[in-house]
Parts: sequence; structure tokens; C-alpha cells
Amino acid sequence: MSKESLANLMTEERRFAPPAELAAGANVTADAYEAAAADRLAFWAEQARRLSWEQEPTQTLDWSNPPFAKWFADGRLNVAYNCVDRHVEAGHGDRVAIHFEGEPGDSRAITYAELQREVSKAAHALTELGVEAGDRVAIYLPMIPEAIIAMLACARIGAPHSLVFGGFSADALATRIVDADARIVITSDGGWRRGAPSALKPAVDEALTRPGTEAVRSVLVVRRTGQDVAWREGRDVWWHELVDRQPEEHTPQAFDAEHPLFILYTSGTTGKPKGILHTSGGYLTQVAYTHHAVFDLKPESDVYWCTADVGWVTGHSYIVYGPLANGATEVVYEGTPNTPHNGRWWEIVQKYGVTLLYTAPTAIRTCMKWGDDVPAGFDLSSLRLLGSVGEPINPEAWIWYRKHIGGDRVPVVDTWWQTETGGIMISPLPGVTHAKPGSAQVPLPGISATVVDDDGNEVANGSGGYLTLTEPWPSMLRTIWGDDQRYLDTYWSRFPGRYFAGDGAKKDADGDIWLLGRVDDVMLVSGHNISTTEVESALVSHPRIAEAAVVGATDPQTTQAIVAFVILRGGAEEAPGLVDELRAHVAKELGPIAKPKKILPVDELPKTRSGKIMRRLLRDVAENRELGDVTTLTDSTVMDLIQAKLPSAA
Ligand code: WT7
Repeated sequence: MSKESLANLMTEERRFAPPAELAAGANVTADAYEAAAADRLAFWAEQARRLSWEQEPTQTLDWSNPPFAKWFADGRLNVAYNCVDRHVEAGHGDRVAIHFEGEPGDSRAITYAELQREVSKAAHALTELGVEAGDRVAIYLPMIPEAIIAMLACARIGAPHSLVFGGFSADALATRIVDADARIVITSDGGWRRGAPSALKPAVDEALTRPGTEAVRSVLVVRRTGQDVAWREGRDVWWHELVDRQPEEHTPQAFDAEHPLFILYTSGTTGKPKGILHTSGGYLTQVAYTHHAVFDLKPESDVYWCTADVGWVTGHSYIVYGPLANGATEVVYEGTPNTPHNGRWWEIVQKYGVTLLYTAPTAIRTCMKWGDDVPAGFDLSSLRLLGSVGEPINPEAWIWYRKHIGGDRVPVVDTWWQTETGGIMISPLPGVTHAKPGSAQVPLPGISATVVDDDGNEVANGSGGYLTLTEPWPSMLRTIWGDDQRYLDTYWSRFPGRYFAGDGAKKDADGDIWLLGRVDDVMLVSGHNISTTEVESALVSHPRIAEAAVVGATDPQTTQAIVAFVILRGGAEEAPGLVDELRAHVAKELGPIAKPKKILPVDELPKTRSGKIMRRLLRDVAENRELGDVTTLTDSTVMDLIQAKLPSAA
């Protein structure tokens, strides 16, 4: 961003008070903010007591060598014991931990007692394969229970895992295996995707031909689809042959709170992927606390469902570690939302009586596009809370989510965080906060965040700038795996002493925080910084628009010109005069400065496999350039479709 501050264009007047019943019984009430403000470290020390420690920590934060933090450094615990065994010991062995729903319709309920046996057997199996505490294990699996069991088995023996999303290529897998120097890969023959088996093992075989992967000595293979697989004797081992014959009891050993728990790679826009390192005690404290506070989980009665993939951080923190540390019952679904029909998710909510649902704006907008009648065909009355994560949620998508999924009675929590932050940082509290559609609003108790200008000074209410985190937090990344200098340069150098998240944000008149996307996505138009998110939200608030992606294209008059790619609702035909109407609509919502110069209706938008719009590619189209790297796109043919439709795009 330039010296100009981000224009604060959007205003949102709608407010939603917490439902009285939820507020009355909420896990966390307004006094948590006061307690944390009075003594932040004492507050986190208190939250650490939610966990079972073999040795209780006496130290909270060691910040003697910033920005390298140690939390609860003299405490010792076993993460898997906390997520599994202690619930069995507390008498909840018969409670379902995981309701697994396969894409073809197979299902399996796994109680905490069964999970304990499965994790124990898998831990023994890894030990038999020679895995020791500190060794890295790569996991490349679909969304099946074995993914969670494998993660917990690694945690149990102190072997940091590195999950690689099943949609990634052999190349991406190889890069991550090499960077983490993994010794074992856990995979499957394949998984079910859009009604058909989709192979995984061939990508592992190919990855292991790449230089630098020679240290991988075993590949543990789960049978899921029954597809034929190539087999390398001496290296490949079937999960059912090795794991099933192991003892069902395993004594968990305690590790230091700062023992590495996992590495997870974030792609970023440039350079080689960063291996984000998370450790044990602080991470588990924050994910358990935030899951309890933000989702108001009542483990006896709630059925929780996070629709993310375990290959993303959302899956790590809010499918595996947070919910299981809290003894939750949760749904795990293997497949896509529209297999075999567009109502599959809502059918699952109805089938299991899901009460707490956590998903992403991209999924919500896709459901909006499919039409209101789809969710209306299912009984969604069990729901009592809805969460959103991954990108800014446009106010209209927020309202649609509340109305059509939440029956206009259920609170929506928009949760801001990152792979690097490990856990939720900015979010309403469902029993406290008067929610504003589109805003993540306030830092959680114990979290210090603010918006600053170019010089690092906090901006006044009503202004925009950069989101920074001003105090260390328990689930913060500890470094970039093998590259402390890159950790310093990437996160701690732009504003000395503060963590810079890379996101633009503004504070509204009430001081609530609005996330405006990555700062690389901010446009400079005639001397004004304008957020792509705000223009997209204005477009989506028009009844004809289902989804929009906005980019700034180089322009001789205005530095950048706003170009919008839009998907019309219900596949509507482009009517004459619609583009003018949309431009006028944006001018009315945000002001004439934000009026797109061009609006181009398209059928699809290019998205990464985690659902984020790749504006970089749209900028290439808008500027009539050859396309950059498309390898992280979910569907690389999308760009051909867009270009074919727009011979006159530039
Ligand atoms: C980036 C982090 C956090 C788990 C999934 C993504 C964007 C995330 C929000 C939100 C606005 C959001 C930010 C952030 N983001 N949540 N509620 N409102 N933006 O993890 O892949 O590490 O991406 O996602 O730009 O920096 P990630």
C-alpha cells in the first residue's frame, strides 16, 4: 500500500444480538475480556489448566529472545492423551468422537474408547517402522478417519506430522517431503471424489522418485477405494496388515510443551512454500480454549461439524486438536458438497443433527448460487451456531448463511486467523457480541491486535491500514521450519516488535475490525487505496450477482482501474443494461471512486484448492498478459473458459 490510507467505503448498519438462550448459558461471557485485559498471561495460564499435564507448567511465556516464543516451557504433556485417553478415563468412552460419512454413503461411528484403541495401535505401528520422537512423518490422505488417527498417533509418540492436502500434485508432495526431511509417508490407495475413486498412491510413488526423498524408508497405505496400486516390496506396507495386529494399549509418554507437534506448509504467492512450525502445549491450549469459547461447545449435547479438509490448518485446529481436546462429538465428511446432489451437506446436517457448523465463505457463496430451495428441502432446525473462516465473508453471504441455513435465529461467527496463528484470533463471542455482518469485529480475550498505518501508528476509528498482532499468543508459529531468518523477515520486519499478518484491515466507527484481504489485493485508484473485498461485497449485494472477484488493472489515467469478474445468479443470462446497472449500484453503495471500469460476466472464478480466489490470474487476464503459474488452481481449465468468453477482456 502507498502512503494513502485505505479508503473506508463500506458501512453496515445491521446488528444481531446473541439469542437470549445462548447468552444465558454461554461458555464464555463478557467478563473474560476484563480478566484477560487485567492480566493477559494469568488468563492464558488459567486456560492451560483445561489440559491434563503430566507436569503442570509454572512458567507462562518466555519472551526473552523475541520473536522466538516459548509458552508453558517447563510443562510436560502428551497431546494425544489430551485428545483421547483422558475422555475415556473420565467415563466418556462410549461417547462418539467421530461420525464418519463417506462420499459413497458408507458411515462409521467411532467412540472415544475405539479412538483410543485405534490411535494406540497406530502408534505401535509407527514405532515398529522405526519412527522415533522428533522424526517427521508426511501424511497424504483423503478425509477418512485414518487421517485423524495417524495425526494423533504421531502426536502420541512425539513425531511431528506434515500433512499434504490430497489434492496436491506429486511435485508439491515431493517438495514438502524434502523440506521436512520426512522418513515415512502415510497415504491411501485413493479417496472418493465427485462420485468416483480418485487415486493418491501413484502421486506418492512419483514423488519418491524425486531427488532428496531417498530418506523415506516406508510408505504406509490405507485401503479405502480398493483401486489397484503399484507396490514396492520392502517399502510399502498395508495399514490393515501392520496396524491391525498391534496391541490395543499404549502408554503415552509426556513431551515438553515446546516439543514440535506439526509442520504445515503455506503456499503464499511467491517463493518456496513456508513450513509453519507449531508446538504442543501453547497450541493445544489456544485451540481448545477458542473452540470452547467461539463455538460454545457443550460436549454432552452438541454435534459439531467443520467442513474443512484435515490437510489445511482449519482441519488441524478445528477438526482434530481443538474439538477432540474438548471431548466433542463431530462429523467428518469425505466428499464434495454436491455429490450426489447439491443438498448433500444439508442432508448430513439433518442426518446427524448437527448443532455447530463451521465452513468457508466460498462454500456459502456456492450454495447461494445453487439456490435457496436446496437447503429449504432439509430439516436444519438442530443448528444453533454457524461459523465462517478463510476469507472475508461479504455481508450478503453472511445474511444468506444466517437466514437460509440458520433459520434467521442462529448466530454467525466470522473467525479471522491464519496457518501461522494456529488458532482463532479475531471473532465475535456468540453469547456476548452484537454481530455485524461482514466483520470479524474484536480480538478474542487474551489476544492483542490492531490496525496501523504505514508508520506503525494505530489508526483512528473509521480508518484503514494493516492488521498487526501486538503481543505473542500461545498458538503462534514458532518459526519457519529450518529458516529462522525467513521467519523474522516475513512476519516481524515490516513493523518492528509486531507481527504483521499481511492483511489489510479497517476499524469502523465503533472500533470493530473489518478484514480486507491480503495487502497485495488492495488497489490504487486515482490516489485512493480501495479494497477488492469491499467492491466485491458491493457487487454481491446486488440481487443478480452470486459471486464477484475484483482486481486492479494498470491504467494510464488512474494508476489502476477496477475490473470485476462476476458470476450471475442462477446462471442468469446477461441482460442488456445490466453492466451499467451494476456500476451504478457500486457507486451508490461505496461511492463513484469505487465504480468498476469494466464488469465481465463469467461462469467460474479461478480458485486455489483451499477456496481462495486467485486474483493474480485475473489481473493477468485484465492486463492482457500471458497467465502466470496455474498449478495451484483447483481446476486449470477455468482460465481457458474465462479467456474464451472474453476475447475483448483487456
Ligand atoms: C488468510 C490465512 C485460518 C484458516 C484458513 C486460512 C484470510 C482467514 C478470514 C476471515 C477475512 C480471512 C486472511 C488470512 N482469512 N480468515 N474470517 N476474514 N480474511 O488459513 O490459508 O493460512 O490463510 O486467510 O487473508 O491472512 P490460511
